[in-house]
Amino acid sequence: MKNSIINQINTALDAAEVNLAKADNDQEIEAVRIAIVGRKGLFPALSGEMKNVLPEDRKAVGIAFNQGKQRFQKIIDAATERLQQQDDTGETAGIDLSLPGRQWQRGTKHPVSKIIDDCVAIFRRMGFIVAEGPEMESVYNNFDALNTPADHPSRDPGDTFYFADGRLLRTQTSPVQIRVMESQEPPIRIVAPGRCFRRDTPDATHSMNFHQIEGLYIDRQVSLADLKSILQTFAHELFGPQVSIRLRPHFFPFTEPSVEYDFSCIMCKGKGCGVCKQSGWLEIAGAGMVDPQVLHNVGYDPAEWSGFAFGMGIERLAMLRYRINDIRFLYENDVRFLEQF
Ligand code: DAH
Repeated sequence: MKNSIINQINTALDAAEVNLAKADNDQEIEAVRIAIVGRKGLFPALSGEMKNVLPEDRKAVGIAFNQGKQRFQKIIDAATERLQQQDDTGETAGIDLSLPGRQWQRGTKHPVSKIIDDCVAIFRRMGFIVAEGPEMESVYNNFDALNTPADHPSRDPGDTFYFADGRLLRTQTSPVQIRVMESQEPPIRIVAPGRCFRRDTPDATHSMNFHQIEGLYIDRQVSLADLKSILQTFAHELFGPQVSIRLRPHFFPFTEPSVEYDFSCIMCKGKGCGVCKQSGWLEIAGAGMVDPQVLHNVGYDPAEWSGFAFGMGIERLAMLRYRINDIRFLYENDVRFLEQF
């Protein structure tokens, strides 16, 4: 009996020592304490066995009990102290409060999206609404209906991406003009921002995919002066009242007359610098009065309706606005670049 009791004490304390060395919290320590010295624990149960111990062995068993209690208290104290220290340094179960914390990266709007939003907001204030068309277009909408001759160089497969079924990736947002006019009666006042594609070799100012914003205004007795005032207002809203614009004669198949329009250089204020190639002017885009043939193609009567159209490169505007000197920055998705916006 004597040896059995002493063995049970030692075995239980060995196990408690191992378990408490791993204990993660006060509850685990308390559970072990209750199992050993609690009212229904091991020690009280073993003391109940004392009456069965031979009288000459009782002293040795008593000593084993006392030593066992002392050892158990030490085990409990060690575990408690260890947890206390962990708490002080913040190392509790699964949470290390000494870690620096998570740095949440906030996304920002891409500069191309920002310019599109700004342009759309400006034209909205002038009564334009947004129209959209697909990036995969028919040859008819992208070229034929826009009065582009069959032998026009822009149709060349070396310049335009064609699909096997004969459709293409639109090279401009101008086909949205056709879609809108074919589905609506005039008057019309729309802007159509969107992605375009051309087989260009990428360099600082060319990208195979880029964005344009198209404008179309159809009503009775619309004149070139209306176009000019809209573009003037747009320039002032986007770049400030100091910017002036000029129109230069040009040619586009779908407008007659056609113009290219320039903003006075926003970098040097027209004095001449590297960005405007010393000219004082920045080429912004093309525009003109919608060619009567185009109106005819969509079923409008050119004798009753007239209008103007314009189209400009979004990346060009973004590069000027944000002083970006290489279009490729807009497509490389380098966060060091993007997080500046
Ligand atoms: N689509 C022309 C281009 O990509 C730009 C353009 C010129 C659009 C004249 C127009 C316009 O609406 O009237 O070069």
